[in-house]
Amino acid sequence: AAERTGLKNLYGDDFLVGTAISNQTLANDDQYLKTLIAKEFNSITAENCMKSALVQPRQGEWDWELADRFVEFGQQHNMDIVGHALVWHSQVPEDFFVYPNGRPIDRQELIKRMDTHIRTLMERYKGKIKIWDVVNEAIDEDKGWRESAWFKTMGGADYVERAFRLAHEMDPDAHLIYNDYNMHNPGKREFLVNVLRDYKKRGVPIHGVGLQSHVGLDYPDLSEFEASIEAYAAEGMRIHCTELEVDVLPVAWEHTGANISDNFEYADELNPYVDGLPADMQERLTERYVEMFKLFLKHRDKIDRITLWGSHDGESWKNNFPVGGRTNYPLLFDRDKQPKPAYFAVADLK
Ligand code: XIL
Repeated sequence: AAERTGLKNLYGDDFLVGTAISNQTLANDDQYLKTLIAKEFNSITAENCMKSALVQPRQGEWDWELADRFVEFGQQHNMDIVGHALVWHSQVPEDFFVYPNGRPIDRQELIKRMDTHIRTLMERYKGKIKIWDVVNEAIDEDKGWRESAWFKTMGGADYVERAFRLAHEMDPDAHLIYNDYNMHNPGKREFLVNVLRDYKKRGVPIHGVGLQSHVGLDYPDLSEFEASIEAYAAEGMRIHCTELEVDVLPVAWEHTGANISDNFEYADELNPYVDGLPADMQERLTERYVEMFKLFLKHRDKIDRITLWGSHDGESWKNNFPVGGRTNYPLLFDRDKQPKPAYFAVADLK
């Protein structure tokens, strides 16, 4: 087979092409995979190793091993490194919102803890991490601000702008992102656009919007996805597709009606392709990737980066979400770390 040049080179004039680095990859020091990643991608995101539960498992106790390795790998290969994520309601350590005696913390204490968390991470990686997902998933679909522990403890959503102001103070050169899923949702779009206008008026430093892009074969409607790219860009935001993959399996109740809502039990009907992806589905996957990358290319002037959420099917979180034990095929490389037809089709667009 002809030597591949790598997506990062093919798309070099358009946008960065990135991947998430799993803890497994960092812990196992898989040289074959690392070489592949270095060849294909010019940006990396910390899939888990910088989340607060992992990097600060207990208040005041830091575990830098994997995070340091992650940054080192990116530096070795001259990649644009993305820190993910400073403020999020999920994967937070158990003691984050409570005192040692179990009593819930108040607003002042949360501000203190948030500031310490942001300061400690940004200080350590200053000048090395260029892009930060400062706040992740703070908006609840079209209902407005998510009523998370952050929101409730703070008594409002001002923790979001506080995080951005502090992040900017810590590193004025860092590119600061608000990241969320279902960013194509018109209700979410409208809400966020209003937030961005308000932030602009009041000088809250925010530079980009992250569209997680956890898509499926038939959702979302790409015209809504495109409308969101345009709407956020019109507010002066750079666009990042931060967690792209295409789930090829029926997803949870809204798609199958399967009753898995209570305990997320393993369900056979949600895992139909244990022995491999049938040819027609492989084709649909390829077509989906092609239409997405065509859309990205159409908006290359607005888009800074397209990051895939994992390097190969074997390590995708979509094998375990929304139910565990599935065999999913959402990425551009298969379980043997070989490029799939979708990879070649995306490469052939250039
Ligand atoms: C996921 C990781 O991929 C999993 O390994 C982990 O168990 C849960 O989190 N939105 C985000 C990401 O912003 O951090 C999530 O990553 C996927 C959804």
